[in-house]
This record gives sequence, C-alpha cells and structure tokens, in this order.
Amino acid sequence: LDHHPYTINEAGHLAIGGMDAVELANKYGTPLYVFDVSLIRENCRAFVNTFQELGVRAQVAYASKAFSSVAMLQVIRQENLSLDVVSQGELYTALLADFPVKKIHLHGNNKSYEELEMAIDNDIGCIVVDNFQEIDLISHILQEKDKTISVLMRVTPGIEPNTHQYIVTGNEDSKFGFSLENGQADKAFLQLYEHEKINFKGLHNHIGSQIFETEVFQLSADILFHKLAEWHAEYNFVPEVLNLGGGFGIRYTEDDQPLSYAEHVNKIVTAVQDQSESFNLPMPEIWIEPGRSIVGNAGITLYSVGSMKEIPGVRKYISVDGGMTDNIRPALYQAKYEAVLANKAALPASESVSVAGKCCESGDMLIWDLSVPEIDSDDILAVFSTGAYGYSMANHYNRFAKPAAVFVEDGNDKLVVKRETYHDVVKNDISYE
Ligand code: LLP
Repeated sequence: LDHHPYTINEAGHLAIGGMDAVELANKYGTPLYVFDVSLIRENCRAFVNTFQELGVRAQVAYASKAFSSVAMLQVIRQENLSLDVVSQGELYTALLADFPVKKIHLHGNNKSYEELEMAIDNDIGCIVVDNFQEIDLISHILQEKDKTISVLMRVTPGIEPNTHQYIVTGNEDSKFGFSLENGQADKAFLQLYEHEKINFKGLHNHIGSQIFETEVFQLSADILFHKLAEWHAEYNFVPEVLNLGGGFGIRYTEDDQPLSYAEHVNKIVTAVQDQSESFNLPMPEIWIEPGRSIVGNAGITLYSVGSMKEIPGVRKYISVDGGMTDNIRPALYQAKYEAVLANKAALPASESVSVAGKCCESGDMLIWDLSVPEIDSDDILAVFSTGAYGYSMANHYNRFAKPAAVFVEDGNDKLVVKRETYHDVVKNDISYE
C-alpha cells in the first residue's frame, strides 16, 4: 500500500484526501470515482515549478482526454496550466469551464470543419496540425473569416517506446502526424510557414503513453530539433515552440518505477538546451502535455462486492458492481491495478481473489489474484490509480449507467459529476411503434 498516496483512519478504513472512503461509498453509492484534488494540484505544480526553477519558458498543457469535466478543468485553470483538447466535445467542455482560450491547444488526426471553425471562432491559442487536408480546411476557414491562427505541426519522429502497442503513437507507421522521413514534413512546413494567415510556431510530437524511460523524450527532442535547425538554415525560420507531448508513466502497481516529474522535466530541458546551443539557435519555449501523470494517481474507484464463486483448487471470483464499463483498461490493454478493501484496510490479507466486473463478457476482469482480508458481500473495494482514462473511457455496454465522480480536498467532499440515471441511458431512444 505504501506506494499509493492514501492513509488508514482510526476506524481502520481507507481515507482519501482526509475523507473516509466507506462513508463516501455510503453517501454517493457505488461504483464511485473519487479524486483527491490536492494531489491533482501537487502533480500540476511538480511540472510547472520545475520549469520555473530552471528558468525555462514553458507551457504545461493538461491532456484533458485523461479526465475531462467542468470541475476538473476549473482546477487545471486555477493551477494556471494550459489545456490540450482533441475534439469538439473536449473544447466545448473547456469553454464551459471558462478556460482561457489562448491557453487551449486543439489536437486530432481527423478534425472536422466544424471543429476547426469552433476553434478559430473562439481564437484558441494553437491548432496542432496533423495532415494536408487539415491545412486546406484551416486555410479555407481563415480566408472566409479573415482571421489568423497559431499552429504547430505534429510529426512522427520514428521512435518506439517500450509500452503497450495500442498507446504507441510516435512511430513511423502511425495514423498521427506528418512523417519526417519522406519529405512530407518539409512540404507541410512550406505551406504553413508561407501562409499569411498562419503563425507557424514549431513542431509537436507525442511518442506514446505510460513511458518510464526519459531517453525517448531526449531522443525525440534531438530529432525534432535537427529538423527545426534544417529549416532555420534553409529558410531562416526561428522556432518559437517545441512540444514534446505527454506520456509520463505513473505507478499502477509495485512493479512500476516511474521517475519523478521533476527528473523528467530536467532531462527534457537539458536535451533541448544542448541542442539549441549546438545549433546556435535561441532556446524555444518547451511545451508538454501530461494527462495521466496529472490525474491518474489522484483517482480511486470504489465498488461494492456482490456475488462470489469459488472453484476449489483453482480460484475464487468476486464480482463488483462495475467493471469494463467504468474501467476498460484491463480488458483493452491488460492493464494491472492494485486494490484494498476500504472497510478492512487495517486487516492483514488472508485470501486471494480475482475481481470480476458485472458485464456479460468473460474478459471483464479488473484484477487477477488480489490478496485481501477475508472478504464478504457488501465490502467496499477501492481500486487505486483509476483517475486517468477511467471515466473518460466509460461506456454504456449492457446499458450500465455511468458512475458519479466526487472531489475531496481539505476534509470536504463535493459531487462533480452526477451518477447517470436509466433515463439518461435511454434518453436518445426513439419508439418504433
Ligand atoms: N498528447 C497527445 C497528443 C496524446 O495523444 C496524448 C495521449 C497525451 C498528450 C497524453 O498522454 P498521457 O500523458 O496521458 O500519457 N487510453 C490510453 C491512453 C491513450 C493516450 C492517447 N494520447 C490509456 O488508457 O492508457
């Protein structure tokens, strides 16, 4: 338990942000996402302060795909971060949270006309351009509205970090961004650089997610900087921004050994400083886009234990009242999680169980072989580090309603996303008789 940022209170219950997890489960029902806001703030500050201490100009943009809700984006705004959105829905949420538009960056490999129009109408800070069709669409909108916009170009540096294949994005054979290998990036550069309504600021890449090695960030900084230096030599282009994306790994289980965020930032800054010195170019602003590392370890999910099935000599299944509908990561990426019984957090483990979700699907298993004290129906299971890509990837499989989310901070709890009702689940259905 030591590596998870939680305590055990006098009742022997798990406490998060000073609040008793069992009481939260009783008050709001289960499944329930609980977020420790002070930890979200701490994570934000770890990134921002390190850049500040190093005296380096930077923007830390929270990748809102990890967990987007109005309350979450308000906290991110309070912490003065920028924001990465990848869709009209995420942009809509940002505007609803009064996020300063100049600090919003729009991503996406297939941005629609409406998405780009909404971004340009709202004068957002930057569009990260992904492909040639998008350049045409942006161009068209800018002409039509006689507006200007800042852009970065997303490129694939041809790096394969050591993580799950589904969350690798910076390799050459990827749906994202312009290839650096075959002249595509150079062709796009000329279109963007010479465009009178586009302010081309520099390059972006995101190598992948849940990455523990800083070497790949240094390597991608080197590769991108070489390209920028080439454009400087040939066209006298001076890069203002180098965006190295997100992907900083977090600790889901004891085996995960992430570097501190400060160490990550230090290495990135050193790599960019070395490059800018060796090419005699001014130091660009460094942008990063952490998602998981801001919110992942700040969230836990509380479930109620229901039915149990023992297969003698094989294993004991215990089923909880959620599953792949609120956390699809184990089913999709074979992601591993750790958990405790919130109401028996002080008791020693005495049996091993495997935690099943309640979806009608064999693959709906949340945790295999979890050590717990003797378990009973109605115990509250708390799964750690579910803050990122849990609620944001939740779905309605089997017509489950999405759980509620609660923020806890300084001994207070506040509902920030309502639990869905079955009315919400069927609200778009139209009768056929
Ligand atoms: N920037 C870009 C351009 C991205 O594509 C992503 C994640 C991020 C930033 C944030 O990455 P992070 O710091 O959160 O690792 N659903 C998967 C993760 C997919 C991430 C996609 N892009 C999961 O549950 O592990």
